[in-house]
Amino acid sequence: MNEQIYIFKIEFQALNQKFRFLLLFVVLLCFIPASKAENPFFKAADLSQSWIYYYPEHWPEEQWERDFKNIAELGFEGVHMGEFAWAQLEPEEGRYRFEWLDHAIGLADKYQLKVILCTSTATPPVWLSRKYPEILIKHENGNYSDHGARQHASFASPKYRELALKTIEELAKRYGSDPRVIGWQLDNEPSVQFDYNPAAVMQFRSFLQDKYQTISALNQAWGTAFWSQVYNSFDQINIPLMKQQFMNHHQILDYLRFAAQQTASFLDMQSLCLKKHITTQQFVTTNYIPNYEEGHIGLCKELDFHSYTRYMVFGENKGLGRKGFRVGEPLRIAYANDFFRPIDNLYGVMELQPGQVNWGSINSQPLPGAVRLWLWSVFSGGSQFVCSYRYRQPLFGTEQYHSGIVGTDGVSLSSGGEEFLSYMQELDQLRRQYSKKRGRLDYPARAAILYNHENAWSIQNQKQNQHWDTQKHILSYYSALKSFGSKVDIITESADFNHYPLIVVPACQMIDDRLVERWKKYAEAGGQLVLTCRSGHKNRNGALFEAKFGEKLNLLSGAEMLFYDLLPPEAADSVCMGTESYAWYTWGEVFEPAPGTEVWARYQGDYYSGKAAVLHNNLGKGGVTYVGVDSRDAELEKAVLSKLYDRQGLSHLDLPPGVVVEYRDNFGIAMNYSNKTYEFPLPSQAEILIGDKQIETADVLVWKLKN
Ligand code: GAL
Repeated sequence: MNEQIYIFKIEFQALNQKFRFLLLFVVLLCFIPASKAENPFFKAADLSQSWIYYYPEHWPEEQWERDFKNIAELGFEGVHMGEFAWAQLEPEEGRYRFEWLDHAIGLADKYQLKVILCTSTATPPVWLSRKYPEILIKHENGNYSDHGARQHASFASPKYRELALKTIEELAKRYGSDPRVIGWQLDNEPSVQFDYNPAAVMQFRSFLQDKYQTISALNQAWGTAFWSQVYNSFDQINIPLMKQQFMNHHQILDYLRFAAQQTASFLDMQSLCLKKHITTQQFVTTNYIPNYEEGHIGLCKELDFHSYTRYMVFGENKGLGRKGFRVGEPLRIAYANDFFRPIDNLYGVMELQPGQVNWGSINSQPLPGAVRLWLWSVFSGGSQFVCSYRYRQPLFGTEQYHSGIVGTDGVSLSSGGEEFLSYMQELDQLRRQYSKKRGRLDYPARAAILYNHENAWSIQNQKQNQHWDTQKHILSYYSALKSFGSKVDIITESADFNHYPLIVVPACQMIDDRLVERWKKYAEAGGQLVLTCRSGHKNRNGALFEAKFGEKLNLLSGAEMLFYDLLPPEAADSVCMGTESYAWYTWGEVFEPAPGTEVWARYQGDYYSGKAAVLHNNLGKGGVTYVGVDSRDAELEKAVLSKLYDRQGLSHLDLPPGVVVEYRDNFGIAMNYSNKTYEFPLPSQAEILIGDKQIETADVLVWKLKN
């Protein structure tokens, strides 16, 4: 026995019985795996908290107390403040004014409202832009942003970063150990900036130098032998002009990687500054826009968790049926939930519209019930909080026509406000159920979608068919999985694949041998891997492999790709699977299967009629399904997944378009975004808590299982 263990044993035996027991208990506690319920920021029994944006600086100070009192009486539990208040916090360089915020926090606390504070870096004050104009973003056309809107400062600017940190540090010192403050939001909807500021150019060059070390390595990675694009040194390289035709797409790819890291580092820098002073009870997050191509999401190392913002009715997104624009795309919130939850196993929603917005192409009224539907949609994915944007409709400024929980008089509840109220009352009902016994209620199956935004970037620069839409392609698989009632996690390459019985990898254009090996091992160990068209063509620099086209995936697909074809939409063709035909035109890969590989669908209608489009290859204990075609109406993708589910014995529902079902904390939540009433097939032991099993448009059903 090792000497140290021996000494420990002697000493342990020397302890009295009671103390020994206590020590053992403490040691055991250390080994209980952390679960989301045990995070230090949210209590499991609260299920989800409800917060609201309030901008004290927009309103006369004598109205604040009335507003906080009303906010609390409505049922909100927290207020979000200070997001755009840099000018009020630091009216002149180095002169800070916190009295007004002290007063607002004091009043919030008087009405038991928790406070979420922000770093107001999205709105630098005018003294900063005038004294240090080098902090302004430079656009592709050479113009600089100016004071008078927001988000006009360059994340690359050392001066901007320095001054931002000074203010943040003052805030952190003042409120970092204040128990009334529960957490911090950094900046506002931080995105990848397309910024040609000289500081950004210098940093892009250093990024490239770090990455490639030598200019010849960069020349090779970017294929600069093509069109005489060769560089002699790193200082000749500029940020690529996105609007210049035929700009080197390898360069664009690296620029997007750089810009994503730039945004992440700007946030991490803020978080580290806060964390020098704040207690571990205060969280740090930010409010991301969950766009498909926002590659910086997930890159930050210093956030406690990720939050997102979601807007549903703004003129461009179509729901189902003639009035669907009032409800929004059925899976818009679900996708964001499934994207954010796996990042930290903990997420929240920082903004949700309470009614009309001001910035859309057509700012319609949401359908009565839609705001409540969205709230339940956020809740259903496992969110720890939802915060609505905003409490009062502003009387001045860009967002005058933006609804609030109360209207322009500052007191009358808007219709969205009424719906918030209903949701919060219903949530209280669930909180009361939380401690009561109920049966286990969970998803019938789980699946993952492996997503790497870099593929979306790469495809965007070389679409080959202008009608190709990466987002639509991913959604065709996602919507099928959701219609099965499955739990779906959107995962990255850092995830443990073995956690999922089935993984869909849509349009994974850029690969390396390691990833292919991981996929192979996953399938051999029993996983079902679904690879889709536009996968495996390129290396991580975006260059084609010196091999037969698509050859890197032959072992997985059990077939050889002969060629790919693209059609004009008016000449769409079809593929035939079983007795059904499915139209396609955006992308079709044509295969020659190896002996033993199953062909699930074949092309019809052109000179390669009868050739394979969808393949299934049994591999070890699992298998690979390769869907080489992107169907027009997403029906083929659903049929393929359904066949796979059936063969694997994975149980599934068959929900109609627009009906979404989720489970959390042993509650079932069904939501109807469709334009028809839907009767949900409740199990016999179900006890309805909210709604009716006939779920009307924009309505919600919540149930539990009797014990
Ligand atoms: C969001 C933004 C908020 C506010 C809101 C209005 O995108 O983060 O600050 O402007 O839109 O709907």
